[in-house]
Amino acid sequence: MYLHLWLAAQKLIGGTYGKQRLALSHYPGGSVLEIGCSVGNVSEAFAGRTNDFLGQDIDERALQIANKRLDTLKFTSEPLEALNRKFDYVMIAGVLHHVDRATSLELVRQAKRLAGPNATIMSYDPLPVHPNASIPRKIIGGMEAGRFLRPLNELVSLYEESGIPVSDSYVYPLSAWKTAIPEIFDLGVVVAKQP
Ligand SMILES: C[S@@+](CC[C@H](N)C(=O)[O-])C[C@H]1O[C@@H](n2cnc3c(N)ncnc32)[C@H](O)[C@@H]1O
Repeated sequence: MYLHLWLAAQKLIGGTYGKQRLALSHYPGGSVLEIGCSVGNVSEAFAGRTNDFLGQDIDERALQIANKRLDTLKFTSEPLEALNRKFDYVMIAGVLHHVDRATSLELVRQAKRLAGPNATIMSYDPLPVHPNASIPRKIIGGMEAGRFLRPLNELVSLYEESGIPVSDSYVYPLSAWKTAIPEIFDLGVVVAKQP
């Protein structure tokens, strides 16, 4: 029930459309691995765009819901270390702010291992909410907050420490709906290209 409520809240005020648009904006075409796909909130943007999509998560219940909702996409709870193939696009989708530095580094390293030649690796995470932020940003940003919110330079450093050259990093103001306003919080986006 909690996961169904989470999905409804994401669609209503959590910026699902903006996250999907962000995910698609770096999509080079071809196969996709979404690490931390949960119930498929962002995955659904890839339905009809690729026939080679794999969503991975450690939450079995979330994956059951994702499987029921999106029958043309594949989902797995297999550990990343067990995956033995390459993808054209690897997203670490809103996960790093939930895990400590050692786990974040491991996820970034796995993303690199699973990215094929010329593949794009991309991650996005909420940034810490500025003390002078608007009230909606404080409320929704607070709801979104994981235990390990990091500023953009720290997100970039996870890639650098893993030996992955970052091609772009920027702040993406996430809107609740398709309109630019209301903005609910900022995402820190990091993009890397597999050499
Ligand atoms: C906030 S949800 C993101 C859902 C979706 N990708 C989005 O951006 O809306 C974070 C997900 O990361 C998953 N997660 C946490 N640690 C993980 C890990 N070590 N490996 C894979 N997934 C993980 C959680 O189970 C959760 O489903």
